[in-house]
Amino acid sequence: MAVLEILKIPDERLKRVCEPVEAFDGALRAFLADLEETRQAGPAAVGIAAPQVGRLQRIVILDVPARPKSSSHGHLVLINPEILQWDGYELGREGCLSVPDYTGNVIRAERIGLAALDPDGRRCEYEMEGFEARALQHEVDHLDGLLFIDRVVSRRTDLFRRKVYRKGGR
Ligand code: NI
Repeated sequence: MAVLEILKIPDERLKRVCEPVEAFDGALRAFLADLEETRQAGPAAVGIAAPQVGRLQRIVILDVPARPKSSSHGHLVLINPEILQWDGYELGREGCLSVPDYTGNVIRAERIGLAALDPDGRRCEYEMEGFEARALQHEVDHLDGLLFIDRVVSRRTDLFRRKVYRKGGR
């Protein structure tokens, strides 16, 4: 296993539309292990998409902790995910390993219905809400070459430079 390099803006590979996975083989499993190790390294993101490490395939790992007001499926490996239903909308703050210096306010559906394949190629369906639904929509955007900064309503009022926290500071 290996921690892979995370591509950051303005890397052009982050703007490409990814291809569906067709082979559910040992090479896929090895890549999934590396992607998971990469997700856990550093700031332990709630989600990561294959194009963020330069592999232009439709693969997402999601691991959203349950919150008091928002349920979650926990750790999911989602191959060729497809959002089938959208319901409601909500403004919320997002960040991204590929956009390290900013967070932004983005409008997303509150609830979604999703179909995806698991690492063995079996079809699974999920209903997601709240922060998990938001994280999933963010990751599926990566598969279509979109970043959250492409979704903010106004770059002037909805993008925020990340604060630098120094030792001893707050
Ligand atoms: Ni991201």
